[in-house]
Order: sequence, then structure tokens, then C-alpha cells
Amino acid sequence: CVQKAHICVSRSVGTKVVATQAEDSGKDEREEKAGPKSLSAFLVERQEQAERSVLISCHPKTSEKKFLKYLSRHGDIKKHFFYDSYGTYAVVEFSTQDGVRSLLDAAVIPSVSHESAVPFKSRLLSLRTTGAVNQSDQQPGLQCRPQSTVPISELIQTLARQETVDQQIMCLTQAYQLTEENSRLRFLVCSLLKDIAAAYFPECTVKPFGSSVNGFGKLGCDLDMFLDLDDISGRDVQTPKSSLSVEYQMKRATSERAVTQSILSVIGECVDQFGPGCVGVQKILNARCPLVRFSHQPSGFQCDLTVNNRVALKSTELLYLYGLLDRRVRLLVFSVRCWARAHSLTSSIPGAWVTNFSLTVMVLFFLQRRSPPIIPPLDHLRQLAGPADRSVIEGNDCTFVSDFSKIQLQTNTETLEQLLNDFFEFYSTFPFGKMSINIRKGKEQNKPEVAPLHIQNPFETSLNVSKNVNSSQLERFVALCRESAWLLQQRDAPPGRGRRRDPPGLGTGHPAAAVPGGRSQKSKEKEKGTGHANASRVY
Ligand code: CTP
Ligand code: MG
Repeated sequence: CVQKAHICVSRSVGTKVVATQAEDSGKDEREEKAGPKSLSAFLVERQEQAERSVLISCHPKTSEKKFLKYLSRHGDIKKHFFYDSYGTYAVVEFSTQDGVRSLLDAAVIPSVSHESAVPFKSRLLSLRTTGAVNQSDQQPGLQCRPQSTVPISELIQTLARQETVDQQIMCLTQAYQLTEENSRLRFLVCSLLKDIAAAYFPECTVKPFGSSVNGFGKLGCDLDMFLDLDDISGRDVQTPKSSLSVEYQMKRATSERAVTQSILSVIGECVDQFGPGCVGVQKILNARCPLVRFSHQPSGFQCDLTVNNRVALKSTELLYLYGLLDRRVRLLVFSVRCWARAHSLTSSIPGAWVTNFSLTVMVLFFLQRRSPPIIPPLDHLRQLAGPADRSVIEGNDCTFVSDFSKIQLQTNTETLEQLLNDFFEFYSTFPFGKMSINIRKGKEQNKPEVAPLHIQNPFETSLNVSKNVNSSQLERFVALCRESAWLLQQRDAPPGRGRRRDPPGLGTGHPAAAVPGGRSQKSKEKEKGTGHANASRVY
């Protein structure tokens, strides 16, 4: 018996949602970012891969062999993987765009009996199977790549098996960081969005920014993207040399902001009305940075779409660079973000709490304040910049060096445990009342305005990144820093001097510090001398 498969174009009809549990099946293949590739080179490579890719919904019992055989008829497949998100999906990357074109040419329009379909074709497809299925077709199920983090209880168990706090921090980062597949999926969703926006703006691109690409993203983080219309912005236009030339007639608006709002309003409408898999579309046009927010169901991503957000791309590039300068940067940022989430200092809901972006800047500032510093201040990176690095966006100087090899780092050999402990100590005594955190200078500055927490935006220097934070949230942050520093220090205290024996767990201590079995480097060294490894376990 032959199981015939053919592809059906997904349309924005009311899709039936089958809730499936995202299982952590498949080998855990979290990869460290390979080599110091510039962010722009990384974006170009991933965007190009995404253009050659399609997203296909399929039955979890689909035969992978037959699936690939069918698709190979349309072109060479370079890479593919399966994942679960409200159903099983496959990301398939063809070697050339011809493969995608051939597959789309063969795709049929679904026949819907009780509803009407919006006739918008996209690269989001469904695999249809027809014909009888014999016993040999009863596959064990597709191997799905995880797109969400392991449950916290499971993570605690894994951390408990680690010997040192440094190992726990590495393990935590491994478990939480974006996987290669998740990164590809993010770019594919941007590429699918670009297809919608391209109906109006054929030259546009949709680029991810923020934690999806800055190296600090956690599985499940939102997908920040912006519609890049730079090629049709009128900026950097060369004056024609000939005496006669033509120019486009274009509609005028009162301000750049008004243009952004009208573009987002129209694109938001298109996403809502025509975008297959896009649900819960909200247009938030009166925000300081207008955006369209929606859920992309096939990927499970919460998406924020903005327009021409070039300063945010620059700050993404800066964080990316800092993250690659020293491996401890990313490891510490992951630990602090995880610690903050576990204590509900951060939330996925906007409010008066500190954001992950603010926390990241706080970690960077702390690392600039080490002696010797682990990373240099932004002003130093600006001094190293060459003419090609010069960048001024809306009057903001966003210039900094892009060539990693020009950056000389000082020798600092502090362990992650030391740094984590000192991070908590540093912020438990930081003079938040008077001083502002400034990564451009690498030194605290007098606060220019009244706000409980003042973190200068590295590029839009008149802005406070943490303007939203109220004093009670800041007080909680400081109190938890104090408590976590204390917990970490108890690990080396001898019994009877207040050493804590009950596992404080993720609710009260830092995960990497407050996990059963985790020992500090110092205590591990002491144990080697005494042979009492288990006796000295703190928890
Ligand atoms: N951003 C900014 N100023 C802010 C907030 C955000 O410049 N006050 C920029 C930063 O480049 C940030 C990006 O917008 O990385 C996305 O913001 P957000 O989604 O809040 O932060 P992420 O870094 O993406 O972190 P998360 O994982 O929480 O989404
Ligand atoms: Mg984000």
C-alpha cells in the first residue's frame, strides 16, 4: 500500500488547535555560537537560509523517510527538523530557492466546506496524506527537537548533579540558551512575515533583534523583529549626475512617527486578516516605539513587530559583541536572568519590574567595574572604531568597533562563582539613590533625573532603560541580592556558624547556588584534602 503525500497551502481559516505537549525528545544539541562572526554576517547567513525554507505541519506519525522522499522530488534538502507546537511541524531548508518554488507550484488549495479561506498563499504548508496506510507505516513518531526549556524541577535535578557552582552555571546556560533549530525557526518566522509585508513593500526585509539574536536569548523568549525599509527611506540618496532624472511621487506625512504608525497599522491589519497562523494581533501604535504584537501559533512565538528600529539593532549588536568578548559574560547574564525569573523579579507581563534588557546592562556594567575589568566601556569601543563603523542614527552616535581583533582585553581570571557572588554584593550596596548605571563610561554617573533605578540607554543617552521600575521592585531586587550573596557565602562557612542545611530552592536562592549537591570551588578543593566529599555537601 502506498501512502501518498502532497502538500496543501495553509490558509488563514479558523485552524483547529490540537494542544500537544512539547516533549523534550531528541538529543540535546545546544551549541555554543561558533567563532566571532559579526552580527550582520550572522543575520545575512540565517536570513538567506530562511528564504530557502518552508514550514510544514504534519501528522506526528508521518514516515520521515517518505516525507523526505516526497520533498526531494522538488529539490535537494539541505537540512530539516521536526518540532511540536500546537501540532507537529517540520522546518525544511532546500539547497536553492527553486526547491521552494517547485514545492509551492505543486501545493494545492484546501477545500473547506463550512468556512471560507482567505486566498493568501505562503510558505506555511500542511502535509496531506491520502491512501491506505499499512502496518509498516505505523511509525514510532517523529523525533522532535525541543523548542522550550526543560521544566524547572528537571533543571534543578540536573544542576544538583554538578560538582561546582561554575559547572552549574554552565549547565544552566546549556539548558536555557537558544538552540540552532530554534534560531532557524525565528528567522523563518521573520521571513514569512516579510512575505506579507512585501505585498506593499517588495524591497523590505524583516530582521530579528533583541534576545533572539544577541546571544542572551532563552528558549521561549519573545521574537522582536523590525520591518526594515531602509532601502526606500530616502536616506543616503546619491544626487544623480545627469541634468535630467525622475523621482518617485510619494505621499507625505507630518512626522517619521506618523509614517511608522500608518505602516504598522496596515501591516498589522494584513497580519491579522491574511497571515496564516498569526493570532491575537494587537496594534500598539501609541507606545514610544509603536509595535504590532501577535502570536505566531505554528512556532509558538510571541512576536513584536516594529518598523525601522535601527537603534535597537545597534544595541543588539553591542550586546552580541560583549557576549562574545569573554565567555563569562553570557554565562553570568543567563544566571542572573534565571535567578531574577525564579524570584519573580522579571515577568513576561509588562509592568513596574526590571526587564531582562536592564538586567543584562547591569551585568555588563558590573563586569566593566571589575579590577581588572572583564569588558571595556562603550566609549573605548567607540575609540577603536574605523571609518566604516561610523553610525549616527536619528542624531544618536551609535559608532563602535566591529572588528573583534582590535579589542585588547585585560587578564582577569575570576571564577563564575566569585563573579556571581560579587554581582549580588555589588548591587546590594550600589548607591541607586544618587547614581546612574552607565556602560558607555563604565562608571556610575550622577542621576540626571528622578527615578528609582536609572540605567542610561547606551545609544539614546537621554533615555532611562529602566524608567518603568518602581521603588518597591528595586527594593526587592536589592534585598534578594543581599540574601543571595549571603547564601553563596554560607556554602563555605563551617557547620554551626549559620551554614544553611535546608535546600532553599529556586524560590529563595540563586539556582546555581541554591541547588542540592552544588559545591563551591573552594569547598571542593578542601574536600580533596580531607576525602570527605559527601560530608561537606551544604544541602
Ligand atoms: N530595548 C531598548 N531599550 C529598552 C528596551 C528594549 O533599547 N528600554 C531594545 C534592546 O535592544 C532589547 C530589544 O529592544 O534587546 C528587545 O527588547 P526586549 O524584548 O524587552 O528585551 P530582550 O533583550 O529581547 O529580552 P527578552 O528575552 O526579555 O525578550
Ligand atoms: Mg525580546
